[in-house]
Amino acid sequence: MFIRVLRWAIVVGVLIQLIPFGRQHTNPPVTQEPQWDSPATRELARRACFNCHSNETTWPWYSSIAPVSWLAQRDVNGGRSHLNFSEWTKLQRHAGHVGEEIRGGNMPPWFYLPMHAEAKLTAAERAQLIAGFAKTPGFEDNGDDGPKLHH
Ligand code: HEC
Repeated sequence: MFIRVLRWAIVVGVLIQLIPFGRQHTNPPVTQEPQWDSPATRELARRACFNCHSNETTWPWYSSIAPVSWLAQRDVNGGRSHLNFSEWTKLQRHAGHVGEEIRGGNMPPWFYLPMHAEAKLTAAERAQLIAGFAKTPGFEDNGDDGPKLHH
């Protein structure tokens, strides 16, 4: 029984590697970064956020192996589309939410932390990152609708 289950698990494990999604691993060019208030803010953001919210993603070997590859690709696609620190020329609608996402414990996502010790911030580092974002242009809270229109 156990051997049969194991054999099937191996067959399925090999077959899912044939699914193409998840191995693109693109890092498009960095067009423009925010004008960080200090190198320390950038460093904290790099440690805790850049893998999903920039074009400088580090793709470790296991991110090429399904099903980890699917999860990693989904996180990076979703992360970049919501907020991309490497494309600051584009409108970043969600940039104003960084403080509440960190404070609420949503970002970085909990499931990311066990494999990425460097992304674990202490309470002091979290406070420092939130304060740093607040002093960096582009992170003003404009609500969900993007920049306010002035008439
Ligand atoms: C493991 C990948 C990953 C990491 C690391 C990560 N994020 Fe995210 N983030 C996502 C994904 C995926 C989304 C879009 C879906 C969602 O909201 O869960 C997102 C959404 C967001 C949003 C938009 C939320 C909204 O709806 O307004 C903000 C703001 C954000 N992240 C900030 C951060 C900050 C700041 C950090 C670092 C402290 C960080 N994220 C780290 C994956 C990540």
